[in-house]
Amino acid sequence: MSSFGRIFRISTFGESHCPGVGVVVDGVPPRMLLSAADIQQQLDRRRPGGNKLGTERNEADQVQILSGIENGQTLGTPIGMLVNNKDQRPGDYGSMNQIPRPSHADYTYQQKYGIHASSGGGRSSARETIGRVAAGAIAEKFLLEKYGIEIIAWVSSVGDFDTDSVDMEIITRDDVDANEIRCPDAQAAEKMTSEIVAAREAKDSVGGVVSCVCRNLPAGLGEPVFDRLEAKLAHAMMSLPATKGFEIGSGFSGARMRGSVHNDPFIKKGDTLGTTTNNSGGVQGGISNGESVYFRVAFKPPATIGQAQQTVDYAGNSTTLEAKGRHDPCVVPRAIPIVETMTALVLADLVMLQKIRE
Ligand SMILES: Cc1cc2nc3c(=O)[nH]c(=O)nc-3n(C[C@H](O)[C@H](O)[C@H](O)COP(=O)(O)O)c2cc1C
Repeated sequence: MSSFGRIFRISTFGESHCPGVGVVVDGVPPRMLLSAADIQQQLDRRRPGGNKLGTERNEADQVQILSGIENGQTLGTPIGMLVNNKDQRPGDYGSMNQIPRPSHADYTYQQKYGIHASSGGGRSSARETIGRVAAGAIAEKFLLEKYGIEIIAWVSSVGDFDTDSVDMEIITRDDVDANEIRCPDAQAAEKMTSEIVAAREAKDSVGGVVSCVCRNLPAGLGEPVFDRLEAKLAHAMMSLPATKGFEIGSGFSGARMRGSVHNDPFIKKGDTLGTTTNNSGGVQGGISNGESVYFRVAFKPPATIGQAQQTVDYAGNSTTLEAKGRHDPCVVPRAIPIVETMTALVLADLVMLQKIRE
């Protein structure tokens, strides 16, 4: 399915080498001030070609608003947005059409539909995420203006290089964008950058982890039992291409702790309760508790590499594949706005669902 959300609902369309990609967003409140610039700022952070650590495919990714906004205000009607694919080079893929790329989506799309887009990843390509980013930029604006909710993601590891020296309560997008790798820890950023450059020079690729924090969330978001907040976030994150893992709060390390260490004791905070620690990641019983929600998403090394790989073609004949085309040696720097906007889509929908109860 290409749709996500219940009230704040998006449907994305487009393939990597067709004329364009885009989204229809339903449920945006009326009379909200909204311009193309509000949407473009996250598309600019996502776009390829703006960063030496990413693919050489160079796309301006200028959003065109087709409907739902007039004189700088939302009408409450579906907002249609289109981004043209300009730097598509279907010819780059030539013989690759006969050989399913190991660990890419060529084989599974072919098995499912009996046909697959003739160039690149088609629908499985990260170009599809443009629609989500455009829609999520609207969700972010709504969440920030109406509730003061802030969503910040950053690169917390690449290959074997990690950072844990980030203060989630104060980190800003400017901190994240201070370097191309989008890791706010300058020392770790340098090592991560060298790792990506080395992978690219070896015609190889490398994986990484994106961390994300959501601040100023009200308590009460999340719809037990199937639409628990962490379940919706996991769904959203694992729907992104190349994701291999999701953990919230203490995550897998929590499984190694005792309850006496893991529990988050309550304290009085103003008129409500807060907690002194936050191993829960701001969610208990699938509902936000008012503390910051934080989680991590693991991205695999991109499948398309220039190194020769032994494999078989669609007919089963042995062959060697040296992938052509322009590809990201590591996806995490570009995944930052994608993770943030996808998070915003989840939260905007849950805020609206909670509002129905008031
Ligand atoms: C921002 C971003 C950029 C990506 N760029 C590439 C790329 O250049 N080459 C590639 O093979 N995969 C790339 N991917 C990953 C593929 O889209 C993905 O691996 C593929 O669709 C198969 O899906 P799966 O890895 O989730 O199984 C990218 C993913 C993201 C999020």
